Formats: sequence, structure tokens, C-alpha cells
Amino acid sequence: MELTEGLQKYSDECNLRFHMPGHKGKKEILEEIAENMQTYDVTEVDGTDNLHNPAYIIKNTQNKIAEIYGVKNSYMLVNGTTSGIISAILTATNPKDSILVQRDCHKSVFSAAILGDLRLEFIYPRFNEDFNLNIGIDLNELESKLKQNPNIKAVVLTYPTYYGICCDIKKAAKIIHNNNKILIVDEAHGSHLNFVNQLPVSAEKVGADIVIQSTHKTLPALTQSSVLHVCSEKINKDKLQKILAMIQSSSPSYILMSSIENAVNYMESKGKNRLNKNIDIIRKEAYEAAKRGIKVITKDIVNKIDGFDFDETKVLLSLDNVGISGIELEKILREKFKIQVEMSDITYINAFVTAADESDEIKKLFDSVINIYESNKQKNKVRSQVKISSLPRLNKKLSIRDAFYKESYKKQLKYSYNCISADFIIPYPPGIPIVCPGEIISEEIIDILTKMIKNDINIIGINNNFISIIK
Ligand SMILES: Cc1ncc(COP(=O)(O)O)c(C=O)c1O
Repeated sequence: MELTEGLQKYSDECNLRFHMPGHKGKKEILEEIAENMQTYDVTEVDGTDNLHNPAYIIKNTQNKIAEIYGVKNSYMLVNGTTSGIISAILTATNPKDSILVQRDCHKSVFSAAILGDLRLEFIYPRFNEDFNLNIGIDLNELESKLKQNPNIKAVVLTYPTYYGICCDIKKAAKIIHNNNKILIVDEAHGSHLNFVNQLPVSAEKVGADIVIQSTHKTLPALTQSSVLHVCSEKINKDKLQKILAMIQSSSPSYILMSSIENAVNYMESKGKNRLNKNIDIIRKEAYEAAKRGIKVITKDIVNKIDGFDFDETKVLLSLDNVGISGIELEKILREKFKIQVEMSDITYINAFVTAADESDEIKKLFDSVINIYESNKQKNKVRSQVKISSLPRLNKKLSIRDAFYKESYKKQLKYSYNCISADFIIPYPPGIPIVCPGEIISEEIIDILTKMIKNDINIIGINNNFISIIK
């Protein structure tokens, strides 16, 4: 089967989509764009403006987005938040600078370090063993890292994480600014936060200098459409515009750009109310599911385990107490209930809810999980736990950039103790590198990766149990 046939097959299955993109495949949400796809697909001709030097229609739309988000400037992106993160970091730094990054950050942050010849300092998220969940960084540690490393130019934080965990971003911004650094926030999973009050506050409202959001993840826009917001005077906008033009396509898609405008307008008109309603339903359903004994992550639980806040539109559920892993639960939901969630790991499924979902669809998700839970409750299976959310601390031999350009060879994972990794090793999802180029392979990491392979977790950077090692 080839690509289009595969897409048609998935489409014909008519699965209930709790995954990206945020429009959930609904024509009525995409409105005009779905109707006019072929005629809106144009290039830079008279009347259509130019993303890399916007003067009228694109400029007007970007200004409107900036106004809605309450920021100084907004830039539409057609190569996803990936391109925005790389551009933001390259704008805020010069070669050889250091940046402090949350270790569980997206791989684009590491790509920026390679491209920009930057030194990486890590701040590790705290890990809760009972819930097998990273619960955000410790702000005291953030402060002491900034004091210890005066060479740090900028800090990159992920807010919310793929799992919906939010740190106290307002306090983090204060600490970072008191130390005269720039705060870049990867808000790939948070473009909806601006529109509702009952979720964590959006970083652009409380002191971030640059925020990058994947409009396609949590708003009803097309895949790859994102927005970068400049929120303070500290950012050199000429440099940013030049770097955005270097990193992104010189033929930006008008369909993607128009879908950003459509999504933001939709949220301003109907979307806000729909999202608020959906959050109320999630809370009610989560309460009922928890009463039956299902592990549902709520804001209360996140607070109890010392996390700061939680984006409840990420429905995080686990049936590991009845012997079903997240990966197995994802499979059962798809095969038996025609529900596809965004992702699963050894413990959880993560179902994304947006303004495009209907109440009965959210109810069906919870009812199906309850159904699976009840029919497995009696079996008394106990699953051995693999703590895959933890990120082991590895020693570094070479900088990420030096390691990336070194010659390498393939070696079996089980014999790679003490070798220097030449590549990223990235379990998917969530796409966070567990090993970076230049890091030394430890016994612990071999053990974790072996367990992941046994548990069918898809890992980029391992092929038939071989990894890339520096010569
Ligand atoms: C936390 C985080 N940041 C950035 C990205 C990259 O976003 P995009 O897919 O829009 O390039 C992702 C993608 O999954 C992500 O999860």
C-alpha cells in the first residue's frame, strides 16, 4: 500500500480522533479552507504579500494575531514549532554561547544547539515514581544554575509539556529576568491557553520573551502551522526575520497561513465556549472514572505530587492497575472502539481534546476506557513497571555539535557500555532524546532502552538493536 491509499484507509475507518491536528478532520471546523483548498493554494504574486517581507495581507493578519494574544509581534510559521524554536534560539544567541534547557525538551532545541554551535546546560525535570511522570523543573535549581553559569544567554522551557504538566512560568520568568537572561518558551502544546481562564495561564501573558506555539496541535489549524510570538523588547526582530527566512521554506503555504487565521478567528468566535464546555465535561468524566478506580491525572493529583499546574485538555489515563499498559490500551481503543488517541507510553494514554470535539465524543472515550477497565478488573494481572519517563543523567564527553560531526560506526546496544553516542536516541512518542550525541552510554541507559524495545516502544536511533558510536 502506498501513501494516499493508506490515508484513505485511515480516513475510511472513521476513527474518533483524540490526536492532532486540532481540527480533528472536521470539514465544518475548517470552513472556507476546506472549500477553497485548490484556489487558495497560491504563491507570492500581486495581492498575496510575502511571509518573509510582509507588507499588507500577511502583515495585517499577523498584527491581528498579535493583538488577540496580547503580544508585541506574531509571526506565522509554515514549518511547525520546530522552525520557530530553532529560529528563536539562533536569534537570542551567538555561536559559543550557552543556553539552559529543560532536559525533557523537544529535539528541535538540540538541533538549534548543533546549528548554532551552542553549549547546552541541562535542568532535569523532577520525576514522580508513583505516577511514572515528569512533574516539571525545580525553580530553586533554575535559580542556582543561572547563578553558577554566567555564560548562559537564554533559557528554554517547555510549557505545557506533551503530558500537560506546567511549571510556575510566571515565577520562572521573574527568576530568569532577574538574572538578565532571555526566556524562550516552547508552548507547542499551549496555543489554546490564551482563550480560556480555567487552564494554566499562557506564558506570553506572564513574562516570556519569545513563545512558540503549534497552532495545529491545540487549535483547529492544519498540520505544520505554528506561530511565534515576540513578547518583549529584548528580541532583535531584524535578526529574527532573517533567520526565519533561512530556516523556513521560501515557498510558504498560503493554505497553512490561512488555516492559522481561520483557527484563531474560530477560537475568538465559537471556539472559546466550546473549549470551556469540553473542559467541564472532562472534569466530570475524570471524576467518575477515578471513583471507579481508574488512574486519571487531574490538577489535584499534579498539585499533590508537587507539580505546579496541569492542562486538563490532555486526558492522561492509565489502566496499569489492571495489568494493561498505555501502549496496549491505545491498541484496544483503536481496534475495539475505533478511537485513536494522540500517544501512549508504558503507563498512560494521552488523548488530546480541543474545541473541535463534541461532548458525546469525550464521553465515548471515557466510557470505552471504563468498559476495558471493568472487563479486566477481575483478572488480577500485575504488570512489572518500567520507569520510562525518567531521564537518566549521562556524562558528556563531547559537545553535541562536535559529536554530531564525528565519524561513527554501528555497535550492538548491549555491548555499548562506556561508548560515546554519535546520534540521538529518541523514544517516540514523546520525541524527547534520551541520549544525545557526545553522551557516554551507561549500564542504566542500556537497561532502560532494552526494556523499551521489549515493550514495543518505537525508538529512533536504534536499528535492529544497533546504535551509532563515535570512532
Ligand atoms: C514539546 C514540543 N515542542 C515542539 C514540538 C515541535 O512542534 P511541530 O510539530 O509543530 O514542529 C513538539 C512536537 O511534537 C513538541 O511536542
